[in-house]
Amino acid sequence: MENKKRILSGIQPTGTFTLGNYIGAVRNWTKLQEEYDCIYMIANMHAITVRQDPAALRKNTSNAYALLLACGIDPEKSIAFIQSHNRCHAELNWVLACSTQFGELSRMTQFKAKSEKHPDDINAGLFTYPVLMAGDILLYQSDLVPVGADQKQHLELTRDIAQRFNQKYGELFTIPEPYIGETGARVMSLQDPLSKMSKSDDNPNACIFILEDKDTIIRKFRRAVTDSDTCVRFAEGKDGINNLMTIYSAITGKTMDEIEREFDGKGYGDFKTAVGETVADHLAPVRDRFAEFSADKAYLEKCWTEGAQKAESIARRTLSKAYRKVGLA
Ligand code: TRP
Repeated sequence: MENKKRILSGIQPTGTFTLGNYIGAVRNWTKLQEEYDCIYMIANMHAITVRQDPAALRKNTSNAYALLLACGIDPEKSIAFIQSHNRCHAELNWVLACSTQFGELSRMTQFKAKSEKHPDDINAGLFTYPVLMAGDILLYQSDLVPVGADQKQHLELTRDIAQRFNQKYGELFTIPEPYIGETGARVMSLQDPLSKMSKSDDNPNACIFILEDKDTIIRKFRRAVTDSDTCVRFAEGKDGINNLMTIYSAITGKTMDEIEREFDGKGYGDFKTAVGETVADHLAPVRDRFAEFSADKAYLEKCWTEGAQKAESIARRTLSKAYRKVGLA
């Protein structure tokens, strides 16, 4: 138990998770629970780097937590908590900010992209957000961090900050590595298979939300953009079909060869329906569990309160050491 490696990851509380969040991240988190000492966090402090309606944020945070449990994160096995419930994150953030350079934050591509998207609200939090994320990771002396491609740069920055701090003040932080395991497949938009599936897509048919009903899921798959070929095979230039095959493979565990054989002689229509049905059936129990957990607020509160206590007892130790090293305590 004691020598298990520690894994930490976080997800922002957006309305609901997409199929991309599920296949690319959360489903894999559940598989890591046996082998690692896992800590999973709803990153609600990160969420306010963009304008949020307070009541909606509160609701989305609670829903995201319920969804984690519904997807199979077991609060007995892992620590599952809500970032703002543990004040250590805000406190370490400041200490680390003072060991982070303006220049390195300016190079973060996500900052550039987000500030272009919200030119009227380029707040300091948006700029320093990677420092908050570094704190999330370093507070728990995490060994491994499963992150998608869009967060790799932030993880590298975390390593730089940790190394610099250790050099300046003496060894404290474990230097985290990216977790590269069974990779969560990258799920693309159903309407534009060259861009990532995103909840903020203007076209509602581009994105599957994991709590959507069966008919909606099937309908969206049936409308997925494909090519003018007719044969289900994984090949260059067939981005739409490749994406559907990737999704089908991620859910069923079948290889691309097996999928090609299964749909040999069948058209795209049959294939799309099959993918839609398989995804919908797979997600049905997640939806049922979500309904159960959401209806039991007392249970949710108990889980996240205990989660925050466990998280804080680990984080507090690191934070106290950091304060001592820097001369604040
Ligand atoms: N920044 C991540 C995202 O937007 C979420 C996140 C916050 C995170 N803290 C983290 C991920 C720590 C990994 C580790 O997706």
